[in-house]
Amino acid sequence: MNSENILGRFSLRGKVALVTGAGQGIGRAFAHALADAGADVAVIDREKEASQIVSDEIKRRNPSQKSIAITADVTDESQVKETIKEVVSELGDLTIACNNVGTGQWIDSENMPYADFQAMMRINLDSVFLCAQNEAKHMFTRGYGKIINTASMSAHVANFPQNQSHYNTSKAGVISLTRSLGTEWADRGVRVNSISPGYTRTPLVEELLETEIGKKMWPVWKSRIPQQKMAEVTDLQGAIVFLASAVSDYMTGCDLVIDGGYTAW
Ligand SMILES: NC(=O)c1ccc[n+]([C@@H]2O[C@H](COP(=O)([O-])OP(=O)(O)OC[C@H]3O[C@@H](n4cnc5c(N)ncnc54)[C@H](O)[C@@H]3O)[C@@H](O)[C@H]2O)c1
Repeated sequence: MNSENILGRFSLRGKVALVTGAGQGIGRAFAHALADAGADVAVIDREKEASQIVSDEIKRRNPSQKSIAITADVTDESQVKETIKEVVSELGDLTIACNNVGTGQWIDSENMPYADFQAMMRINLDSVFLCAQNEAKHMFTRGYGKIINTASMSAHVANFPQNQSHYNTSKAGVISLTRSLGTEWADRGVRVNSISPGYTRTPLVEELLETEIGKKMWPVWKSRIPQQKMAEVTDLQGAIVFLASAVSDYMTGCDLVIDGGYTAW
């Protein structure tokens, strides 16, 4: 074996990463994981205070590393372009980009205003395209990059009993986009993969479970999860470091499902 020690190859020391939607929930956990593994991290969120808090947390936990907070709406093309410019000028060449922004809504399809369908696509799918396109243009100049998109187990199944056809469709789109870009950019060194979490305890899910209909959901969900519990955001951190690091360089266009076995049966 002539290769470097396997744990050393997981290190992200000296690398620059960005995470969108990192002001809370899964994105916050991704940003912390990348920083713990050695990267300098840009925390991007449309909520200014939330992104600053997470960036400050990262600097306290990893004092030798840099972190910046950027306030941006990643559904806006010009803001995406400006954000990437700012990351590169403040932290240096971008190697790792986690396109994690997404939202959820439960609504029956026959009553869904078309505007809700379009808004879901814009936030969950268009944002991933805009970010990946602009991140890759920068990564091409160095011939290396790791783009990791947040999809969902809902890309693989229709959730039950809540109705969310637009969400499920948007996430299936994220997986197809990941596959397509991974293939298209393979010869230029940019890897594009995705992570599909199952039900994960975050503010997004906790808010939904507080609603009247939400209170009836958890027993049904639990009965369909072989591990009988929701994921914690920390359960997803290993996957992001794996896909961000050199150990996964031969992977592209791939989706990692982390769902306690939900989609396995
Ligand atoms: N929580 C789950 O059970 C679960 C399961 C599967 C997939 N996911 C996916 O994981 C991702 C994160 O989910 P979460 O549960 O952490 O959500 P969350 O709502 O807790 O956090 C999302 C963050 O994104 C930010 N954001 C939203 N729209 C934005 C925009 N246009 N520009 C910039 N920032 C924006 C929000 O301010 C928030 O800080 C989403 O893509 C979601 O679909 C979540």
